[in-house]
Amino acid sequence: MTPKLLVKNLVKNFGEKKVLSGVDLQVNKGESVVILGGSGSGKSVLIKIIATLISSTSGSIQVDGKEIANIGSRDRDKLMEKFGFLFQGGALFDSLPIWENVAFRLIHQAKINKKDAREIAIQKLKAVGLSEKTADLFPSELSGGMQKRASLARAIAVNPEIIFFDEPTTGLDPIMADVINNLIVANSKQLGATTITITHDMQSARKIADKIAMLFEGRIIWFGDVKDMYSSGNAYLDQFIHGRAEGPINFLNK
Ligand SMILES: Nc1ncnc2c1ncn2[C@@H]1O[C@H](COP(=O)(O)OP(=O)(O)OP(=O)(O)O)[C@@H](O)[C@H]1O
Ligand SMILES: [Mg+2]
Repeated sequence: MTPKLLVKNLVKNFGEKKVLSGVDLQVNKGESVVILGGSGSGKSVLIKIIATLISSTSGSIQVDGKEIANIGSRDRDKLMEKFGFLFQGGALFDSLPIWENVAFRLIHQAKINKKDAREIAIQKLKAVGLSEKTADLFPSELSGGMQKRASLARAIAVNPEIIFFDEPTTGLDPIMADVINNLIVANSKQLGATTITITHDMQSARKIADKIAMLFEGRIIWFGDVKDMYSSGNAYLDQFIHGRAEGPINFLNK
C-alpha cells in the first residue's frame, strides 16, 4: 500500500542554522502520528515544510506516492485542498467573524458562495461543540478554549485528507484539553483523515497517537507504536516523556 505521506532524508537549514538534518517519516492512510521534541527542535518547521508552507533545503516528500518537494503552483493549489492546518496559537483572523474564519478557505479556495459556506461553517462549529450563536462573534469575544475549537472547525472545514495540528491543547486547562483531544480524534475518524499532531502534553499524545515520532537534533530518533512508548529503552524518549531535567538531552549548554 502506498503510504499517505513519505518523507525521506529531509534537510532544512536557515542560513548557517541547521534545523532538520535528515528526517525520515512514513505515515499510512488514516493513521495518527504524534511528533514529540523539545522546544526549538524543528517540529513546526517540519510540518510546515510537509504542508508546503515553507520550502526544504533538500530531501523528498511524497503524498499519495507523488513527489511534492518542488511542486509547481497549480499542482500546489490542488495539493493544498488535501490539507487542513491548526496553527500553533490558533491564529484566527481578528477582523473576521468566527463563521468567516471557519469558511475562509471554502470561500477563497474552493470558491463556494458565501451563503453555502456559512452553512458549512455552522455545521463544522457544531461538530466541535460551538453553537450557531458563536458564528457571528469575533475571535476576541471567545475564550481560549472556544478559540481552539473554532480553529479546529477551520482545520476540518474543507474535509481534508491530511490534518496538521500544531500544539492544539497548549494553554488550555486539563479538561478543555481533553475535550479538544476527543474532538480531534472523533472528527479525524469521521473524515477518515490522516493526522500529524505536535504536542508537549503526554496525556494528549497517548489519547491521539497511533504512532509516536521523537525529533531530536534534526532527526527522528525513535518511531513506534504509542503502546511501546514507555518501554522503548531509548534514553532520549524516556527523558522527554518523563520530563526529567537530567539525561542525554541537555537544554542548558546549547
Ligand atoms: N523563518 C525562520 N527563519 C529562521 N529560523 C527559523 C525560522 N523558522 C524557524 N526557525 C528556527 O528553526 C528552529 C526550529 O523552530 P520550530 O518553530 O520548528 O521549533 P519547534 O520544535 O516547533 O519549537 P516549539 O516547541 O517551541 O514550538 C528554531 O531554532 C527557530 O528559531
Ligand atoms: Mg512549534
